[in-house]
Amino acid sequence: MKGEKLPTFVRAVAVILVLVTEMKKAKCMKVEDAMAMVLVARLESGENDPLAKALTESMQAAQKAISSKVDPNAIEESFVRRIKDIVSANGIDVVLPLDCGRNAFNSRNPLVPKKNPFPWIAALGSREQGLFHFRCTGIIIHESHILTDGNCVASPTINVVRLNVTTLPGIPAVENFVVGRRLHPSIRSKSDLLAGINIGILELAYPLKFNAYVQPACIPGLLDEDSARQTKRFQSTLVGFRNIEDGSRGRSGNLFLMPNSTTDFAPKCVLEIKAFNKMHPNRMNSLDNLLTEDHICVYRNYEMAGKSLVVQEMEAAGARRVKVIGLGGFANARTPVPIAYTSVQSHRFWIELVIKKFRDNTFRSLVREAEDRWKMKC
Ligand SMILES: *[C@@H]1O[C@H](CO)[C@@H](O)[C@H](O)[C@H]1NC(C)=O
Ligand SMILES: *[C@@H]1O[C@H](CO)[C@@H](O)[C@H](O)[C@H]1NC(C)=O
Repeated sequence: MKGEKLPTFVRAVAVILVLVTEMKKAKCMKVEDAMAMVLVARLESGENDPLAKALTESMQAAQKAISSKVDPNAIEESFVRRIKDIVSANGIDVVLPLDCGRNAFNSRNPLVPKKNPFPWIAALGSREQGLFHFRCTGIIIHESHILTDGNCVASPTINVVRLNVTTLPGIPAVENFVVGRRLHPSIRSKSDLLAGINIGILELAYPLKFNAYVQPACIPGLLDEDSARQTKRFQSTLVGFRNIEDGSRGRSGNLFLMPNSTTDFAPKCVLEIKAFNKMHPNRMNSLDNLLTEDHICVYRNYEMAGKSLVVQEMEAAGARRVKVIGLGGFANARTPVPIAYTSVQSHRFWIELVIKKFRDNTFRSLVREAEDRWKMKC
């Protein structure tokens, strides 16, 4: 059960609506059944989830009112009102999963691979003549969304998502399909992809069931210490697929890691590149002209790192967790060190907006469904 205790907002909302429907049919509602449903919601969304707590409280209040023989219509109305309050009050907080970035197979060192794959890595590709063709690396951030770079999201050929893989094409793998593409709204042309906005989101056909093999990664908070203005250098890990080859089973490749990769925020990196250029006037690196505060730099060779993601380990809520901090890397052709990546932190607000919009649409259709059911006689 432990690996499954994850906040899935939509499922929680569905449970609420079932409850509301039950309350509407007050005469035939069994409090025991409703309580059981609250229990399920609690288990699925985590003991400390405020939504689950509030649900339990309002359920207890309703139960009390019923046992004291208050008019069922009044109970029902106040219950619906209470649920609406809970949902709107929780609207912002639960956009991204709070329980993120764990590695059940190596919880102390979530970035050190054990026998099992990293649960948040996604291999993105196409299906050609029945075979999987790898094209880029993405990362799970939500049960219905994969974060990757803008190039990848813009490519119509990418429509298959493979999870729980270390070697491609990967068997057994959890497979899903792309049904929606959200490219950062400021991207208008290819040259914009160098401007610190090379980021996009793929929407999945089916919500993922999170477990030990499939987990969302964390995203740095807007107000995290390591904001774009901070200049202190740190270590990150590059992760992606390499040794990409076309073969009889499709396009194959292997997961690779570059741990302990020295990473700078853009201002420091600009200074480093200028210093390098002063010492190597015949190997000038012009990357410094392109860096913005929406970039981070990793001092690794682009030819080795390829299309990788930048991840970092952190300690949060009593667990060692992994967050994705950079993607969409590019480098100077002649001097391929460092690599400039789009900073994920700079785009957290946009990411949340995309998911919130998706969730609101999903929520609305759930409400319609429930309303149709209310019309049915008990
Ligand atoms: C994930 O892959 C491992 C093998 O690497 C396999 O044992 C496991 O059953 C898979 N899990 C899922 C949910 O597909
Ligand atoms: C990364 O650095 C840490 C601390 O310096 C060290 O303990 C660890 O072994 C290094 N990891 C690798 C894979 O080199």
